[in-house]
Amino acid sequence: MSRIDLNPQEPRYLALREYTALRMDRQSQEALVYFLKQTQEIFGLVPVFAQVDASEMCDFDMKIIKALIMRFPSLQGESVTHIVKVCVGDRCKGRGSLKVLSAISESLGIGVNQISTDGKYFLKTQKCFGHCREGINVLVDSQMNHQVTLAMVDDICKKVK
Ligand code: FES
Repeated sequence: MSRIDLNPQEPRYLALREYTALRMDRQSQEALVYFLKQTQEIFGLVPVFAQVDASEMCDFDMKIIKALIMRFPSLQGESVTHIVKVCVGDRCKGRGSLKVLSAISESLGIGVNQISTDGKYFLKTQKCFGHCREGINVLVDSQMNHQVTLAMVDDICKKVK
C-alpha cells in the first residue's frame, strides 16, 4: 500500500477515532491497543497520523506509541523522522498561525497530515498547546517554538530537512 492511500479522512478511520476517543480513559492501554489494531485493519499498517491521534487521545508520548507498536508483532507502524505541529487554536490563529502553517507547508512541500516522499517529516495541526500567551506556537518533535513569525519559518524547516 502506498502512502497516498493512507487517507486520514477515510470514513472507517474517522468512525474508529471518534468511537475510541469517546471510550478511551486517559492512558488506557487496552483502548489504545484496540485503536492501533483496528487502524491496521483499515490501512494495512498504522499510519503516522493515527499514531499522533493515539498519542493525543491518551496523552502518551509518541515514543510510548512507537514502543507499543513494536511490542505487538502483528502491528506495523509507518515511520517518519520528524513531526511538525502548528497550532491553529483561536489565539494562535488570531496571530496569523494559518499563514505560518501555509508557509511551512510550502517550504516542506507537503500538506497537513502528509508525509514527505522521503519519509522524513510529517505536518499536522493542533487546536491548542496550552501556551496561548506565547503563540504562535509550532512544535517540532519535542521542541516547542514560541512566538513564531513568518520570518522564522525557514529556520524551523531547516531543522527537519
Ligand atoms: S491557541 Fe495556540 S497555544 Fe493555545
